[in-house]
This record gives sequence, C-alpha cells and structure tokens, in this order.
Amino acid sequence: MGAGMRRKLAAGNWKMNGLLADLAQLDQLAKAPLPAHVDTLICPPATLIHPALAHAKGSALAIGAQDCHAQGGGAFTGDIAAVQLRDLGASAVIVGHSERREGHGETDALVAAKAQAAQAAGLCAIVCLGETLGQRQAGDTLAVIGAQFAGSVPATLDPALLVLAYEPVWAIGSGLIPTLAQIAEVHSSLRAALAARFGAAPAATVRLLYGGSVKPDNAAEVFGVADVDGALVGGASLNAQDFSAIVQALAAA
Ligand code: 13P
Repeated sequence: MGAGMRRKLAAGNWKMNGLLADLAQLDQLAKAPLPAHVDTLICPPATLIHPALAHAKGSALAIGAQDCHAQGGGAFTGDIAAVQLRDLGASAVIVGHSERREGHGETDALVAAKAQAAQAAGLCAIVCLGETLGQRQAGDTLAVIGAQFAGSVPATLDPALLVLAYEPVWAIGSGLIPTLAQIAEVHSSLRAALAARFGAAPAATVRLLYGGSVKPDNAAEVFGVADVDGALVGGASLNAQDFSAIVQALAAA
C-alpha cells in the first residue's frame, strides 16, 4: 500500500493556550471548506474540549486532547481518563509529547500505557517521538527514535487507531526545522519500524506526522517529503488563517 492510501492529517496542538473567546478561531476553520481528502484535528486544552466540540459541530473539523491517564479511572486527582475524553466526543489524544516527557518525567513505558488506554477507549493515539539537539549533534537521532519507538509503541496497539508524530525537541517553538533529508530519514526509519512491528500492510496505513515549527511558509516543502502524511502544528494552529494555509498546503501536496 502506497502513501496514496493514507488520508493526510493536519493536527493542531494548542498546548496550554486558549480561553473561551479563542474558540472563534474554530468557527473560522469550521466554516472554511475543508479539503475532503485531508483530516483536520484541533487538540485544545482540556478546559476547551467540550465547547470546542460545539463549535466544530456539523463541520469536518475533529477535536482531540493533549494527554490522558494510563488508567481507565479512579483516585488520580487532576488527571483525565481516555474514556472521559471519548465521552465528550473527542476522537484522538496526543500522548508522549516531549513537553510531557520532559516536564512531567513521562517514560516510554508510561507513554505506551497511555496509548493503550487511549485505544481501549476508542480514541486514535497520536504518539510523539523526537530527539534533543544534543542527541542529534552526537549522531544518535536514529538510535534515540528507535528506542522511543520500541518502548512507546507496543505490538499490542491497533495500527488502525495509531498516528506517529516525529517532533525533534529542538525544532519545537524555535523556528528551526530539520533539513528535508533529515525528516525523510527519520520518517523512513519509522515506517520500517512499524513494518517490523505490525507487518507491512498494517504499517502502511499509519500516518506519520512531522511536527516542530511548521508554518504556512515551510509547510509545502515539508509535505513534499516521502512518508510525511501531515503535520502536528503548535503555534501556527492558534491562528485560523495560518492553520488553514497549512491545511491547504497539505491538500495540494
Ligand atoms: P510548534 O509548531 O509551535 O513548533 O510546536 C510543535 C509541537 O510541539 C506540536 O505538538
């Protein structure tokens, strides 16, 4: 199965940004004609998931979450279970973002458990992987990504509810992006890792997103890279005009 069999995916991660008034950005996105062959997803902070779903209602814009707990429920103050996200109408959840791996000490094993919990609740798990600048400069990128994949993407996951996001830590929020050859190298290694884990045909259905400083002015070249099926967009997803431009670049790729 070739890349043509995978629907493209433009996903926005609002991180800890956004108040109720900012949902007006979603109205703009929802009323713009979304390309039929591109999936669009916005992951607002948990406080905005429910109202965001109301704003997206009747449009092709899907709403997801930025994290979930590994357990299905219980005495976990402040945490949110995947089934609770699904109950609201969320369709996806990001797990293992570097800001959670670094800021909250999340290990590969925890990320794997969260991905499993997400899928058990019927959510698409968007598993993030990425090297630090030091690791890239040391020539360790593929080894680091390989180890994160081995630990965060267990064979028990369902490839049909799985998306991987390659997000180099040094490219997030920095305005820097890897060379296109560097992106291609990591994405091709992830496709091979998926094939080894799930078999070639299921592996070919998993979308591979690039994330880290994707903007309207660099989106087209990133989307031209082999095995890039879309983007996970931070800053530029906060603005409907910028995110729409990225969606259009993806539709045209
Ligand atoms: P930026 O697009 O702001 O660099 O963020 C990328 C990211 O971390 C998305 O999850």
